[in-house]
Amino acid sequence: MVVLGIESTAHTASVGIVDENAEVLGLASDMYRPSTGGIHPREAANHHVDVFPGLVEHALAAAHVSPREIEAVAFAQGPGLGPCLRTGATVARTLSLLWRRPLVPVNHCVAHIEIARVLSGLDDPVLLYASGGNTQVMAYGSGRYRVLGETLDVGIGNFLDKLWISLGGQFPGGPAIEKAALEGVELLPLPYSVHGMDVAFSGMLTASQVLHAHGASRENLAYSVEVTAYSMLTEITERALAHRQKESVVLGGGVACNERLRTMVRSMAESRAKTSYAPAKSLCVDNGAMIAWTGLLAFHAGVTVPVAESIVQPRQRTDLVAAPWRTG
Ligand code: ATP
Ligand code: FE2
Repeated sequence: MVVLGIESTAHTASVGIVDENAEVLGLASDMYRPSTGGIHPREAANHHVDVFPGLVEHALAAAHVSPREIEAVAFAQGPGLGPCLRTGATVARTLSLLWRRPLVPVNHCVAHIEIARVLSGLDDPVLLYASGGNTQVMAYGSGRYRVLGETLDVGIGNFLDKLWISLGGQFPGGPAIEKAALEGVELLPLPYSVHGMDVAFSGMLTASQVLHAHGASRENLAYSVEVTAYSMLTEITERALAHRQKESVVLGGGVACNERLRTMVRSMAESRAKTSYAPAKSLCVDNGAMIAWTGLLAFHAGVTVPVAESIVQPRQRTDLVAAPWRTG
């Protein structure tokens, strides 16, 4: 089976085509980059309107498949920015009607997890999903992904982006902070906010800005923020592994591109004789292939939606959507 997936929850418009073996046959993406500040939802949606027709063509050409060979059209139903979600959903509905193929709704967060899980080859890992808007430690249980711990305020990626912009940098902050952190030499004291299985970042944002105002360099701040924030994530992931008695950890989401985070989680897992896995970076960040793959799983489990009922869900939570492909 070949499925086409549409991703448009935030900054990235993307079209992916995958087959039954989770092989990514074609992937075409284009990211909206605000000239100043953070993402403006309407501007991002306008960007997506402009690029989607070309992305569909590019993905089909890269995959060497014709529209006739696409058997289902999947789209990210939520969570995300309303105008961006509606743009992607409109593209998906159009293709579904044009090609007469079923429409499959997919939760964006579950898609980050599922693409990472299939590539890892690990059946039932703890999942560390660290992205722009979300930071969650999860495991599957009784029909859906259960959130064991999460951020109490902003997602870690949004925190990194906001911090970097306030230090004079540009969106996206995560990769720029990773680069700057390599030049850092001093570990500055920052709030380490772990509350049981949950984490918080807003105190670290304020403290970093105060330190910067008192002369701390961007490099030392980047280094200190990475060490502190990624230690927090590693700690709650370790606790989830121990309490749920799992054998492995799988990382997903844009922040899982980060080499320091990957290394810290891997060394924690190895010290417990467990396995850890993070996918290729192009599949950690938002991409249509993860939507297509999760759509394929959902379709096989009988999930489709009529066009008239395919409304987007900007606040759809990971633990509120069923994962029926895991039960059977
Ligand atoms: P969500 O999945 O919560 O809706 P999103 O879709 O906005 O969030 P993703 O594309 O999954 O996000 O991730 C984007 C985030 O990843 C941005 O905040 C970006 O700064 C961060 N990021 C990307 N690369 C790196 C990196 N190398 N190190 C740290 N953060 C990174
Ligand atoms: Fe994402």
